[in-house]
This record gives sequence, C-alpha cells and structure tokens, in this order.
Amino acid sequence: MAKLFEPLTIGGVTLPNRIQVSPMCQYSAVEGVAQDWHLIHLGGLMMSGAGLLIAEATAVEPAGRITHGCLGLWNDAQEAALTDLVARIRPLSSARLGIQLSHAGRRGSARSIADRGRGESLPPEEGAWTTKGPSALAYNDQWAVPEAMSVEAITQLTRAFAESASRAVRAGFEVIEIHGAHGYLLHQFLSPRTNHRTDAYGGSPEGRMRFPLEVVEAVRAVLPAHCALGFRVNSTDWHPEGLKLDDAMVLAEALKARGVDYVTMSAGNLVPDAQIPPASPGHQVPFAARVKAETGLTAAAVGMITDPLQAEAILTEGQADMIALARGFLDDPRWGWHAAAMLGVDADYPPQYLRARPNNWRGYHRVHPEAKRVDSAKQADRPNNSGWDRPTG
Ligand SMILES: Cc1cc2nc3c(=O)[nH]c(=O)nc-3n(C[C@H](O)[C@H](O)[C@H](O)COP(=O)(O)O)c2cc1C
Repeated sequence: MAKLFEPLTIGGVTLPNRIQVSPMCQYSAVEGVAQDWHLIHLGGLMMSGAGLLIAEATAVEPAGRITHGCLGLWNDAQEAALTDLVARIRPLSSARLGIQLSHAGRRGSARSIADRGRGESLPPEEGAWTTKGPSALAYNDQWAVPEAMSVEAITQLTRAFAESASRAVRAGFEVIEIHGAHGYLLHQFLSPRTNHRTDAYGGSPEGRMRFPLEVVEAVRAVLPAHCALGFRVNSTDWHPEGLKLDDAMVLAEALKARGVDYVTMSAGNLVPDAQIPPASPGHQVPFAARVKAETGLTAAAVGMITDPLQAEAILTEGQADMIALARGFLDDPRWGWHAAAMLGVDADYPPQYLRARPNNWRGYHRVHPEAKRVDSAKQADRPNNSGWDRPTG
C-alpha cells in the first residue's frame, strides 16, 4: 500500500489517507455566512480523494476577516449555514472535515481579489474597519495603522477563538486548525518584526508566544475527544531580523506541550521587506521534516507539492506525515483519485462516478500509461461510503 493512502490518526480523528486539501480563502461569504459557492467548492472537493478537507481561514470576530467576503464563525447565522453545509457534504465521501480559525489582525479590512483587489486596505467608503495588531505598526503605507490591542482585548479575543471552535464542533467539523502563519494576527504577535510590545505579550520569545499559546489552550479546552487540533506554523519570516526556523521549533515544542495534534509547516509574508526565495517544488518540505524529526509532532508539508510520486517520496522518506495541497486541488479537484491511480490504490469513488474509475474505462490509461492498474475484483466489494445506493443500471 502506498504510504499516501495509509490512514493517519490525529487526536481523536482517523483520516482515511494522508492527503489534505489545504485551507483556501474563497472571499465569497456574505456577512461571514457560507453561500452556495462554498457548497459547490467544498462539496466538489469532498470527491477529490483527499482524506482531510480544511475549510478556509474563518474569522472569529468581524474585525478578524481579511475582506468583507471572508467566512466568519462568531454568530448563530454563520453557525447554522456551516451546520447545513457540513450535513450536506459529509455523506459524499469518507474524507474528514476541518476548519481553520483565524484573525487577520493588521492585514484585515482589505479589498478582496473577488473585487479585483491586490491586497490593499479598503478605503472608508468601501466599509473599512479598524484593524488590530500587537502594535500600532502598518504593513506598509498602503495599509491602515492597526490599533495596538489592550490586554482586555487580547483576553476577549482568546475567548472568541474558543467560542468559534465550539461553534465549529457543533457544526460538525472534527479538525480545528488555528492559523498562526502568513502574516496574520497570531503570527504578528509571534514575530519581533511586528510585535513591539513591552508588556507580558511582547519582548521575549515567551512574551511573544503568550497570546497564540493562550488561544491554543482555550481552543483545546473546548474540543471534545473525537476532534483534533492543528496549528499552521510560519516556519520563517524570510527576514534577517525576523523569526527563523529555530524559533518555529521552540513554538512547536510549546504547541506539543499544549496538546496540539499536528502542525502544518508553512511560511508566508509578514513584512514587505521579506526576502522570499522563489518557490520551487516541495520548497517547504524541509520545515516539516525538521519539526517532525525534532519534536515528534505529526507534521504536514505544504507548498508546491503537485506530483503524487513526489508526495509519496516525502512520506516514505519520513519528511512529513501528511501532504497538503492548495492550488493543486483547484487545478485538479480529483487529484487524490489520480494519485491513487498513479500509486495503484483503489480510490473511494461515489457510485455515480464509478464508470470513470481508471480500471473501468480505457481513457485514463491512454492518457496516463504510467498509472498502475488496480485489482478490479477488489473494486466490486468496496464499501459504499457515499450514503447513496449503488446504481442499478
Ligand atoms: C486561493 C488560495 C487561498 C488560500 N487561503 C488560505 C487560507 O485560508 N489559509 C491558509 O493557511 N492558507 C491559505 N492559502 C495558502 C495555501 O493553503 C497553501 O499553503 C499555499 O497555496 C501553498 O500550497 P500550494 O503550492 O499547494 O498551493 C491559500 C492559497 C490559495 C491558492
């Protein structure tokens, strides 16, 4: 059996395989409420062959959104919409559902790409809001200066993360991922480039980690045993005076001590003068490999992993436990099925699509002669995980 298709247990959740659909903002919510777009987008990705599908960065309070179109989970209407969405899509496959909880901090109040934005602050006439940050430091002169958060505001926001996590669990998500990366609020607290506080929430590495770790503790405390907790780590600031991979290892140990079940080792943009090298295939895999080797935490690798054989090699070489893809799944929403074909694994097709299974028609092997053939006797007995009856004709 290919390693990519071996089950993986994270916390109270056993994933049917090690392929993750990485969280992807869709900028398509209305007042933070999921729409038909989310049903189509996430419903389609349930039939992708992935074992874990993590819904996009979801704000824990209104000011935590990146744009007006971001998902939110701070009120009943948002919870009801996600509850309905989960109930509809969960029967589509054996994939498990997660959600990423987030706060944009100083990168909030931005114009959405759906409105042809290029990542700049909204002007007041487009409904700009006051952003928050560890310190009153703007990203650059195109961005508004955030309000430095008071200790009361930090305490209140910690509670908001926990409340959103409770809402997510009630909605039916089993994996809760905290967004600690990509230049958003928790990352802004972690980095000395953006956190210039002199109180208990700044200064030393312990001070800068305090708020993100309090969020982790608060969310952990509300998660039932059947769920799992993840954290997206920013492995480096790509800046000589910013966080380095060594700092990410210290954070990872602290996350492990607080019961985080897995980390995804990413690295996004915190400051405009970051010196980010051009992305190459698997460029962030060494981050996952180091955290896995040094801390023993379950590690997901993400970033320019596009080829099933590349994904399989990352796992068999012990560099990561899970493989997350974002753009790869937008490009090919059946990536997991196609990876199964390449690796000779019997994938989980819904009955409506069984005729497209590579062994059931010649088309796939004509285009991909390198794909392995699966024992089709086994296919006849495969369980139907879809909740639908098998077709009769
Ligand atoms: C459309 C889009 C939206 C994204 N939104 C999020 C997000 O909500 N949260 C997050 O942590 N990363 C987000 N990312 C980053 C991806 O999850 C992933 O880390 C990154 O794209 C690198 O993986 P890839 O090379 O497979 O695309 C987004 C990426 C894309 C392409």
